[in-house]
Amino acid sequence: MKKLVTTSVLAFATLAAAACTGGGEVATHKEPNADLIQDMMESPALKPQDFDTFDRMKGSSRLPPEGTVAQGHTPYPYHLKPEEAERALKNPYSGKMTAEVIELGRTKFETYCAVCHGYEGKGDGPVSVKMAVKPPSLVSEKVVGYNDGRIFHIITDGQGVMSSYAYQMIDPNDRWAVVNYVRSLQKLSPGSK
Ligand code: HEC
Repeated sequence: MKKLVTTSVLAFATLAAAACTGGGEVATHKEPNADLIQDMMESPALKPQDFDTFDRMKGSSRLPPEGTVAQGHTPYPYHLKPEEAERALKNPYSGKMTAEVIELGRTKFETYCAVCHGYEGKGDGPVSVKMAVKPPSLVSEKVVGYNDGRIFHIITDGQGVMSSYAYQMIDPNDRWAVVNYVRSLQKLSPGSK
């Protein structure tokens, strides 16, 4: 290794000397320099969002240490605890079936829920025909019987094969508005109250 470095330095010195004997003209470079010693030119460090070519599972973006909480973020305290959520969560829009809340809920419901649960919440959305586990009706006796907190919890934490929609609706109020919209669908649906 030492010998290699010495050789490289020697080669560099020879080349530098040759460049100096060019008759005093200012050298203008049109081509990139030859990289004689590449050690610090090609950094082995990974670029942001890059991955290790030896191990594609090793990305340059590392996971934060376990238990780390992002600034300004409050972790959802009822993850996988539907009964606790049911007892603790209170709907800020409880009984507030104003045009504003229902319109907000309708927009979100039709964007995120209707594809599976259907526009009227009957479990017959356009993609439901392709699904092995059918999305249940949201105007069923069972869901009518859930309290607002339980429905909010399912939207926030998911249930069984249904994933969480908290990342699509970051503002919890949007999720509560969806709960109220589901209630309005239930009222409209014959057979449920
Ligand atoms: C990709 C399809 C899909 C989307 C989109 C979806 N769901 Fe679901 N949902 C399901 C499936 C499937 C289940 C049954 C999950 C289980 O229990 O395994 C379910 C279950 C539910 C339940 C519980 C019903 C019961 O009988 O226990 C509620 C409430 C619910 N979803 C509400 C929503 C709301 C509100 C949205 C929109 C934010 C939504 N879902 C979006 C597929 C979906």
